[in-house]
Amino acid sequence: MPIIAPSLLSADFLHLDRDIRMLNASEAGWLHCDVMDGRFVPNISFGLPILAAAKKASTKLLDVHLMIVEPEKYFEAFAKAGADYLTVHLEASTHLHRSLQAIKALGMKAGVALNPHTPVQLLENVLSDIDLVLIMSVNPGFGGQKFIPQSLKKIAALRQMIQAAGAATLIEVDGGVTVENAPALVAAGVDVLVAGNTVFSSSDPVETIRQLNQAGK
Ligand code: DX5
Ligand code: ZN
Repeated sequence: MPIIAPSLLSADFLHLDRDIRMLNASEAGWLHCDVMDGRFVPNISFGLPILAAAKKASTKLLDVHLMIVEPEKYFEAFAKAGADYLTVHLEASTHLHRSLQAIKALGMKAGVALNPHTPVQLLENVLSDIDLVLIMSVNPGFGGQKFIPQSLKKIAALRQMIQAAGAATLIEVDGGVTVENAPALVAAGVDVLVAGNTVFSSSDPVETIRQLNQAGK
């Protein structure tokens, strides 16, 4: 069964405590947190104080997706805020291998995110150093966008690369995930499904998370 990672970006920021308690009571495995700086992406979301507060309230693993330039400047701060997984964009990382080592040295799991145009093959020589690859299935910056179908082929190719390398790297898909497309994503090799709009626009988010969880069956 896939790990479900609801995205805090679509939560009600006036009622984060209520929304996080709802997630605690659900079958969600992780809490996905999107940090945006208005430079790497054309949007600004939230940062360290919100993450630290979410960490206190949440019983789930904190899965932090950095959509920021120069992410390496803030690794220590994100570790202190309570990140369990810290994911940087390949497109924002000149020295990716160094960044991966730095994240792990701080006790976190290291993730790499790829924009829709970035080929998975670029990760070939660092795959065994990566705990998680995040495939962006929309252009990063906003919740509630439409899934880009080409992402399925990237996921399948990445699954093959991971198998061939004998690596334990997890595959996460982020953007436009729905109850309808989740089974195809899991069949293509996804381990972690991020879902923002699908979960938080639902009249019964706990049931929607359960349905996403069933995608592997
Ligand atoms: C987009 C973010 C996503 C976003 C997904 O830049 O990385 O995590 O919250 O939202 P949905 O599931 O609504 O596409
Ligand atoms: Zn994200």
